[in-house]
Formats: sequence, C-alpha cells, structure tokens
Amino acid sequence: MYILLQSETTLFLGRFHSLSVHLPIGFLLLAAILFLLSYSKRFRFLLNALPLTLFLGALSAIVSVILGFFLAEEGGYPSENLFWHRVMGIAVAVLSIGAVLLMLGYFRKSEKGLPFNSRLKIDRMERAILNQKSSFGMLIGAIVISVSITGHLGGGLTHGENYLYTYAPEFVQDLFLSTNYEQDSLAFPSDSDSTLIFEHIIGPTIRQKCANCHNADSPKGGLNVNSLEDLLAGGDSGPAIEKGSPESSELFGRVTLNPTSKKYMPPKGAGLSYGEITLLDFWIKNGMSPELAITDESIPEEIQSFLENTYGLSTKRKAHYEKIQVAKLPEEDLKKLREQGFKVSTLSDDNNFLDVVGGGNLTKENIQVLDLAREQITWLDLGGSGAEDSWLEIIGGFPNLTRLRLDNNEITDEGISMLAKLENLESINLYNTSVGDSSLIRLSEMKNLNRIYLWNSNISKQQIARIQDEYPGLMIDQGMLFEKIEKEISSKK
Ligand code: HEC
Repeated sequence: MYILLQSETTLFLGRFHSLSVHLPIGFLLLAAILFLLSYSKRFRFLLNALPLTLFLGALSAIVSVILGFFLAEEGGYPSENLFWHRVMGIAVAVLSIGAVLLMLGYFRKSEKGLPFNSRLKIDRMERAILNQKSSFGMLIGAIVISVSITGHLGGGLTHGENYLYTYAPEFVQDLFLSTNYEQDSLAFPSDSDSTLIFEHIIGPTIRQKCANCHNADSPKGGLNVNSLEDLLAGGDSGPAIEKGSPESSELFGRVTLNPTSKKYMPPKGAGLSYGEITLLDFWIKNGMSPELAITDESIPEEIQSFLENTYGLSTKRKAHYEKIQVAKLPEEDLKKLREQGFKVSTLSDDNNFLDVVGGGNLTKENIQVLDLAREQITWLDLGGSGAEDSWLEIIGGFPNLTRLRLDNNEITDEGISMLAKLENLESINLYNTSVGDSSLIRLSEMKNLNRIYLWNSNISKQQIARIQDEYPGLMIDQGMLFEKIEKEISSKK
C-alpha cells in the first residue's frame, strides 16, 4: 500500500508536514489556555471561542497526520522513534476530534430552533461545558500531553534525537542523550602502516552519512552499506561499486551528482566532501583493495595531504629501522670495526642500528670485518672509499641495510647484481659510478627501494624515462640541480 501511495506529489506534499504541524500545536494549546482562563469569572466569555479553536485544532491535526504519512514515505527515519511519533500524532487528532464532537453534543442538547448565534443558545452551551468541566478538563489535559510528546518526538526525528539536549547541563544530557549512527566518529589505529583506506576511512564515512537509510533493517533501494561485502552485493540496480571503474559504480555516480538532482545521495543531510569523493575515486580506480594502507606509495600527494589535514594522519611510512629492533653490537666487535677505519655510531640512544661510514681508501679485507655487524648496519656510506664490485658480495647479505652510498667508486652492473637480496634497501647513491641500464632495471624491481641517485653514471636518459613511467613512486635523482649549476657557471664564464 505504501508503494501505491508514494508518488512525486505525495513526496512534495510530505515536505509541508514540518510546516503544518505548528498549526495544531498552536490551536490546541490556545484552546487549553482559553479553557484554563475560563475558570475565572472575568474570562468566562472566552469559552465562546473554544468550539472554533478546537475545531481548527482538530482539522489541522488531521491534515498534519496525512502529510506526516507522506513525509515518512521518503524514508530515513529511525523506525522506532517514527512509530511512537506516529501513534502520538494520531492520538492528538483523535482526541481533538473527540473534543469537537463533545462540543457538538452540547450544542445539539441546547434548545433546538434557536438561531445559531443566539445569545441564549451560546449561554446554554457555556453552561453545558461548565457542568462537565472536570471531564472536559481531562480531555484537554490529555490533548496537551499528547501534543507535547508528539512534538518532542517529531523534533527528534528532524533535528536528530539529541537536538534539544546538545547544550543542556551535563546531568540532563546523561539522562536523555542517546547515540545513533550519525555520532559514530572515525577512529584510527596508532600505527599509520595499519591504517586502511577502506576499513578506517571510506567504510565509516559511508556508514556515517548513509546508514540511516541503508542498513540491514531498512535497506532503501535494496542497499545496505554496512560492510564491503554489502556494498559489492549492492542494491536493486546491482553492485554499488565496481572495481576499477568509478563511472559505472552506482554509488559513486549518486554521490557525485548535482546535489539538487532527485537521485543525489544522500537525499538529506551532509553529502560526501570533495576530499572524500577524491579518495573514493582513487580507491575504486586502483582496485578497491581492502588492504590498501594510507602509507602506500601509490597514494598521490593530493590525497596524502587530504588525509593529513582532515584526519591528522601521517601518511609517511615508518622506516625499516623504526619498525624492528636488533641486539646491541658487543663492545669488542665495535672496536674491531673502528680499528679497520670505520666511523660507527648508533642511530639514537634507544636504537641499536648502526650508521657506518668508511672514509678514505679501504680494501676488501677492511670490508670483511663489517660482517660482524651484518644485523645492525642499516646505513652504510662507502662513497669514495675505493669500493669494488667484489665487496658487494658481502654487503649484499646485510638484512637490515636501508641506505647505501656507493658514489665515486668503480662500481659496475656486476656489483649491483649482487644487491638483489637487500629487500629493505630504501635508498642507494650511485653518483659517479659505471653502472648502466641493466642496473636501473634491477634496482627498480626491488620492493622497498624508493630513491636512486644516478648523476654521472652510464644509465641512458631513455631508460630513466621508461622506468620513471613504470614506477611513478620511485624517485630517480639525476643531479639536475648540479647540471643546472654547472650550466650557469659555464654561461657566466
Ligand atoms: C534519507 C534517506 C537516505 C540517505 C541518508 C541515503 N539514501 Fe541512498 N537511497 C535512499 C532511497 C529512498 C533510495 C531508493 C530510491 C532511489 O534509488 O533513488 C536510495 C537509493 C540509493 C542507491 C541506489 C541503490 C540501487 O541499487 O538502486 C544508492 C547507490 C544509494 N542510495 C547510495 C547512497 C549513499 C552513498 C548515501 C550516503 C552518502 C545514501 N544513499 C544516503 C535514501 C537514502
């Protein structure tokens, strides 16, 4: 039946409910005031206005109830609150009709045949009311109570249940405040590497803004937004989101329509913000992985700054040496490293990882000693130390190495090929070495490597362009800055 009732016209009229409800409230409360005043002899004449006031109250109550049914068709109201608002609203209409009928009864009992507005007739009606004053009083009292309850429940439906109490003293809030969907706020894990785009941001945002109408109890359009599975299952028009394709995702389409469109979602309340839509677009386009974390390298800068500014999150990955811990290198081993000409320091007082710098001219024998600290070395600087390819066989076995400087050495592709197992390597400096294109390909395939410094090596510009295209997250520094400075210097000469 409800479906039959629903049409553009009823939806249009329904919106007037919130306006029309003020009429019965006004008339019926006025009737109660007139009635109370009539207890004083001076104001007894006010009883004359009672029938008309009650009649207008009853009429407007009936109209409001009908419009209320239309408005409820729009959906989106918590069903329990709506039920009681509806029951009490109907009670108001019934009680006020009762009061009018009672009046008519008195009216009919008064002498027949007298003209409508005869003084005598009105006097008699007045007397009839006065005779029944206590039962009539109870009826008026019941009307006032049901009007107040209906109004309160109705206000809760439109403004949110807690509207009235938002600024109330705390003890009043404790008594009346309840939580609903809209008050869920986003909560994030303390570790940004495990903060997930869908689970911690998109999912809760959609629940916050859409679950009032799209939940398991009342899935408008057949859609429940509670979980990723529910979104994939979709509604009457199929899946709400489709991998790789925001354009053909019903949900994405609905939230990006012009807000004045009939199909725009949500039909009322705050829609998705520009940032939220950009994030959703990115996530759908990039395969909708539930595991995608906010620190993922594929996340563009625009979205990173949205996440940082809006939620106060950090999208920077934690470095390897911040995530795990190693045992302290024994003092005597440390001494041996220093004896072989290395400068050794720990990263910080509470971190046992080592920063090792090998200045001057070293030999392979010197390098061998580093194996004692293979677990601890995370930064290793062999720039200009006379390093050769064969040294890299040893270095290629350091499991926690994250930064390696090999600049200004005779290193070739053969040496680089021995670094493939360094799966935590994040940055490598190859300025002024003899590495070529095959090294760049190898390095670009290393999972965690995200910075390569390459100025003045044998790698071709074309190869760099190709790799840069394929791995946009990888920073390849070609020493542009130096080239520019050199050019400027030579042009000044
Ligand atoms: C006030 C209630 C309400 C809210 C809030 C609401 N919707 Fe809807 N939604 C509906 C109704 C009613 C329909 C069915 C009529 C239609 O398709 O327009 C619907 C239909 C849909 C559909 C189409 C389902 C299908 O398969 O046909 C999608 C998608 C949708 N909503 C997404 C959203 C999203 C996303 C949000 C939150 C940003 C949202 N809705 C918030 C009431 C609501």
